[in-house]
Amino acid sequence: MFRILSKPLSSFTYSSLISQKMYSNYIHFLLNRAKSKFEMKNLDTVNTLKDKGLIIIKNFLKEERFNKLLNEISKIDDLEEIHGEGFNFRKRQLSHFLPELFPEFNKMNEIIKEFYSFKYIPTPSINLQINECNEKISYDIKNTSENLHSDRIYSCLKYFFYLNDVGEFDFPLSICEGTSSSKMKIEFYEDALKNFKRDPGYFPFTDELKRKYDIPDPKKMCFPKNTLIIADTSALHKRGDFKIGSKRILIQGNYQNAISYKTILKNFLLG
Ligand SMILES: [Fe+2]
Repeated sequence: MFRILSKPLSSFTYSSLISQKMYSNYIHFLLNRAKSKFEMKNLDTVNTLKDKGLIIIKNFLKEERFNKLLNEISKIDDLEEIHGEGFNFRKRQLSHFLPELFPEFNKMNEIIKEFYSFKYIPTPSINLQINECNEKISYDIKNTSENLHSDRIYSCLKYFFYLNDVGEFDFPLSICEGTSSSKMKIEFYEDALKNFKRDPGYFPFTDELKRKYDIPDPKKMCFPKNTLIIADTSALHKRGDFKIGSKRILIQGNYQNAISYKTILKNFLLG
């Protein structure tokens, strides 16, 4: 029972057997029922996120705090190594370290709560991620996030905090602006579902679909270090390009799995 409640609401993988229209209506019905009324302290940010699907904050931390963070990060040496996509990917959970030492990041919890009109939101997963390409390694692009994809078919939020300068070949997050789920016609997802059923396991957002729905090319989020991006990753997006010498050091806060049946039920009861 607890496991069912904690399961995140999902997208194509779980819902491929039913219509996206039915699924979307069901999710939005649940999300709306759990809404509360309270004072909005981050109204401008929340409105920009809802309208543009994206907010970019340069110089998020004060210089001395940013340097302190870099110093703390440099002490971490037990990262998990993952290979398979043509580059070296290392990551480590920071959930128990970052909010305590750098409460600046807790502001995002308030923004996310206001975004959903929720009184309660679970602690996000916060990861340190280091992507680095030192040599050319071939890999199968077909099943990687280098393909355009949508994390969910309803609004879901992540933040990306750049710890180094990210240029166009430093794995910049790349987003098709204006494609958050709230901006897309449901027919778009129905068509994507048809592609998914035809070729399950692969990303259904084909060039043909992009043309049909006038989807813009993904825009590379190239920004200097100390830039924070909060993005609704229901929008079409992909992992950015890289070449030999590319590097990106990132802190990613992920609220994607925080929107579960348990979260909705808890907010409904708190309502
Ligand atoms: Fe994604």
